[in-house]
Amino acid sequence: MGGSMNTEKTKAAGGDPVAVADRLGRPLQSLRVSLLDRCNFRCRYCMPAELFGPDHAFLDSRRWMSFSEIERVVRVFVSLGVTRIRLTGGEPLLRPGMIEAVTRIASIDGIEDIALTTNGSRLKQMAPSLVEAGLHRVTLSIDSLDQATLERMSGSHASVTRIIEGLDAALDCGLPVKLNTVLIRGINEDQIMPLVEMSRGKGVPLRFIEYMDVGNTNGWCMDQVVTEAEVRAVISRHYPLKPLPPAIAGETAVRFEYADRPGLEVGFVSSVTRPFCRGCNRARLSSDGQLFTCLFASTGTDLLSGLRSGGSDQQLRDRIRSVWGLRRDRYSEERSAPLQSEPGRIDWKKIEMSYIGG
Ligand code: GTP
Ligand code: 5AD
Ligand code: SF4
Ligand code: SF4
Repeated sequence: MGGSMNTEKTKAAGGDPVAVADRLGRPLQSLRVSLLDRCNFRCRYCMPAELFGPDHAFLDSRRWMSFSEIERVVRVFVSLGVTRIRLTGGEPLLRPGMIEAVTRIASIDGIEDIALTTNGSRLKQMAPSLVEAGLHRVTLSIDSLDQATLERMSGSHASVTRIIEGLDAALDCGLPVKLNTVLIRGINEDQIMPLVEMSRGKGVPLRFIEYMDVGNTNGWCMDQVVTEAEVRAVISRHYPLKPLPPAIAGETAVRFEYADRPGLEVGFVSSVTRPFCRGCNRARLSSDGQLFTCLFASTGTDLLSGLRSGGSDQQLRDRIRSVWGLRRDRYSEERSAPLQSEPGRIDWKKIEMSYIGG
């Protein structure tokens, strides 16, 4: 495939964004910013406790982008067409003073959506300040309503009660919440209906994420993936589902509504059995300022050193534009067939999810 699809659509002067497209014609519209690579959970699909032990070397906090550096980089991304920001981690609520990141990003013209992904351990205390800072919505990870199963999945003393209190606190402050659940066969697939009932009870959308072969540490194998088809079959036995059209371009999830509860969604992010690279408009920034153009990338592009050595916004813009313009990542699509026939580990050096966020 040649570079002929790399189009640039320059709008009128006066600060309007200049849209950039990659080699497959995909625009840059969404940026996921990791605030730190640490977490107080050790989910087995993300940071298995055996490998992320007490001596694990996380990034030195001096290498974290400061909040003003984050704001500056985000402004440049917005000038290239980004309208959606998601703050991730590790666990983003563990980054000291992180409310400032929300306040700064919320003040940028052109941002239509600022969301945050959290494990809920600190949501109860922080929900009011997040709303005050201008956060639009949160995505809360919850893999089980059974305490023992949650501990197994999270490799920690994560508390179901605390996560639910976080959910309720967010809803009480008027912060929209989506729930994300990863299933691993043999561990928590019995939680499908309890989570469905809980989300229906609270009127909150729930999404099931297929366990992905992200990173090199989780020991992923296809046998452990509970597929979208299986989960839909289980739910449909209790509650018939009706498909919904995509809400926005490049969406990760396919969405359904419960036939008996029109408007209440259940979604599936199925990158293993239904890859969605075709519309992927997401860039990712690690907390040390590396730009990644795919969740499954092995290398990134350092944006922070340029800033710290006095580089201009224009230089930063040119750098991002050239990286995005060369992008041709479509990992899930390319690996889809071999993944499903290859039951073992995938031998490929990939970044860890805890470093780059979900
Ligand atoms: P919304 O903006 O609320 O629709 O969120 P989202 O679609 O960006 O998804 P979210 O951040 O809730 O991520 C849900 C799951 O999808 C997480 O496990 C992510 O890691 C995964 N995910 C998000 N973006 C991508 C992607 O570009 N590729 C793959 N393979 N997985 C992704
Ligand atoms: N597979 C699927 N989702 C994952 N996440 C982290 N690791 C994986 C994985 N291997 C996602 C989960 C979690 C979010 C923070 O990252 O959705 O809720
Ligand atoms: Fe922490 Fe989220 Fe990774 Fe679990 S999935 S270890 S909560 S960053
Ligand atoms: Fe985008 Fe890479 Fe995910 Fe495909 S695998 S949707 S290219 S991040």
